Amino acid sequence: MSEILLATDLDETLVGDDKATYELNEIIIALKATKGLKLAYVTGRSPELYAQLQEQKSLLIPDALVTAVGSEINVNGEKQTDWPIAPGWDIAVLKQLLSLYPDLQLQPPTEQRQHKLSFLLNQNPALVNEIRNQLAEQPVDVIYSMGQYLDILPKGVNKGSALIYLVLKWGISPNNVYACGDSGNDISMLACSRPIVVGNARSELLRWADSQPQRPFVAQASYANGIIEGLKHYQVVQ
Ligand code: GLC
Ligand code: MG
Repeated sequence: MSEILLATDLDETLVGDDKATYELNEIIIALKATKGLKLAYVTGRSPELYAQLQEQKSLLIPDALVTAVGSEINVNGEKQTDWPIAPGWDIAVLKQLLSLYPDLQLQPPTEQRQHKLSFLLNQNPALVNEIRNQLAEQPVDVIYSMGQYLDILPKGVNKGSALIYLVLKWGISPNNVYACGDSGNDISMLACSRPIVVGNARSELLRWADSQPQRPFVAQASYANGIIEGLKHYQVVQ
């Protein structure tokens, strides 16, 4: 049985149109039976906020759950303790360096994770650059998405590297890895897979798509209907 990995972001990608989510769920259940599909949710949410969405939207139980923008991985309900690799990561130092910026508003306690420091910042690209410069000596990456979320993560830890962790763990051929997303924090996983950008994607993601030498697949349809369109485009389903 050839294995396929379908990795999807949740908010505004798998979730956003309940009827479409339901239809996609049916397709996933069938692909699990016929093609050994593995399902991974790759979200910015903490496990707490994920659990709320899971219940509200009756999401399928995934084979892997990646939370906190790639910094936490669970496989079959088991936390992967060998992830992330984060030498020199020190939240206290980062908070100190960022205390200069009163416009940065700390996100709620559930969204502050061992390897993720998250703020709210209203659309301000100049300040994001300044913050990147301020943290240039630190072993971190700064990810800004949806014109409001600023995540600081250990260098190289993101949705993409978490996806690669799963691909290696399961020994899936890179040709059989599909990733779906709608916003800036999805770019790293779209860049290392067969990408499906949903039709409702944010401008930051469309800008990235347009800048790629080989333009990633961008669906016409929104949310889970966009994922279905992508699976048809790649001939995973008819
Ligand atoms: C989710 C998380 C939040 C993060 C955002 C963008 O909304 O709850 O902490 O900043 O995704 O990655
Ligand atoms: Mg999203």
